[in-house]
Amino acid sequence: MTDQRADSGAPDRVKTPIADEEFYRPVFSPWHGYGEFKDIYAEAKPHTLVSADRCHALYSLAVQAAGLTGQWYECGVYQGGTAMLLARVLRVH
Ligand SMILES: C[S@@+](CC[C@H](N)C(=O)[O-])C[C@H]1O[C@@H](n2cnc3c(N)ncnc32)[C@H](O)[C@@H]1O
Repeated sequence: MTDQRADSGAPDRVKTPIADEEFYRPVFSPWHGYGEFKDIYAEAKPHTLVSADRCHALYSLAVQAAGLTGQWYECGVYQGGTAMLLARVLRVH
């Protein structure tokens, strides 16, 4: 029996490394510590009831809103974790 693939003339597959592959398990999950969110969440985590994925949604929205003029406030602060996260985004962006 002959190997059909060897006769096809098709190039061998080259396995190209995927950048930041560890965050694609199984889909892109940046709340596991992608980019600057890693440090921002590490600071907030001990002081929040909000899960990492929800903190990342908050972070993403905060980054988008950081360029707008106006005031920020948070209702329902508990220990201040997400307020810390928002304050950090405002300092950095
Ligand atoms: C899901 S926790 C989130 C707490 C905080 N943002 C954090 O980072 O963990 C919701 C918070 O809202 C507060 N809360 C609920 N209803 C409220 C109300 N009517 N007025 C003010 N705070 C309220 C709760 O006491 C609790 O601290």
